[in-house]
Formats: sequence, structure tokens, C-alpha cells
Amino acid sequence: MLRASLPTRLTTGALLCAAVLASGCAKEEPASRVSGGDPERGRLLVQQYQCAACHFIPEVQGPNGDAGPSLESMGRLSYIAGSIPNQPENMIRFLQNPPAVKPGTLMPALGITDDEARHMAAFMYSLK
Ligand code: HEC
Repeated sequence: MLRASLPTRLTTGALLCAAVLASGCAKEEPASRVSGGDPERGRLLVQQYQCAACHFIPEVQGPNGDAGPSLESMGRLSYIAGSIPNQPENMIRFLQNPPAVKPGTLMPALGITDDEARHMAAFMYSLK
């Protein structure tokens, strides 16, 4: 009896594992996606705002300044500016007004609109 039901249990177990794995992956994804954000438009905006004056940013032309950290792995860092959880809404707020999110930070507010910040954030999450 036990032997007969074993394969069934194994199959059920395997299906459950697959389901858990699938939902696990789905849960990690949203952090790297910004709704309404277009990474390519973001890249062009980052270039236009001359963010590379202070940052090294892959695929963006500029002096690759070193006043700010390199943004080459921004998409997989856990924190923004060392202390803010790296999630889309936080990234958008930080890009628009860094000192409001992290008092005392040396990154200035550059007058970026909500839409522009959304596209820039999408581009930030493409950097890995
Ligand atoms: C005047 C120099 C300067 C300019 C211009 C500037 N930044 Fe920054 N940025 C900084 C500094 C300094 C930090 C570090 C902030 C901190 O840790 O408090 C920073 C931090 C960041 C971070 C977090 C990096 C990390 O490793 O956590 C991101 C993302 C970022 N900047 C994106 C941008 C974007 C996009 C632009 C253009 C819209 C831009 N920056 C323009 C100086 C600048």
C-alpha cells in the first residue's frame, strides 16, 4: 500500500516544489521592474541631465566623474546610497530629491519630474 502510493506522493511533491519556485521567482521580479518606466528613455534622460558628471554609468556618455559612486551595479544593490531599501518607489523619490530622502547627502536635486524619474529608475534597474 505504502509502496503503491509513493510515486504519487513524489509527483505531488515535485509539482508543489515547482509551484513554490515559480512564485518565488515572481516575487523577486517586481523590485527590478518600474511600472510605466522605459529603460531606454531613462538612459537618454540620464545622459541629458549629465548624471555622468558625477557617476560612472555604463552606456551613458560623459566625463565619468567620481564625485558619486559608480552606478554599474545599481540594479542589484540592496540599498540606495547605503541605507534606503532599493525598491522602485524609493529610487524614484531619491532621484527627484536626494536630500529629502537622505538628509545630508551630497547628491543634489536636479529638478527631475516624476515621469522622468520613473524612466531613469527603469534604466537604473537594467544596470547589473
Ligand atoms: C553633483 C554630483 C552628482 C550628480 C550630478 C548626480 N549625482 Fe547621483 N550621487 C552623487 C553622490 C555624491 C551620491 C552618493 C550619495 C550618498 O551616498 O549619500 C550619489 C548617489 C546616487 C545613487 C545611489 C548610488 C548607490 O550606490 O547607492 C544613484 C542611483 C544616483 N546617484 C543616480 C544619479 C542620477 C540618475 C543622476 C542624474 C539625474 C545623478 N545621480 C546625478 C552625486 C551626483
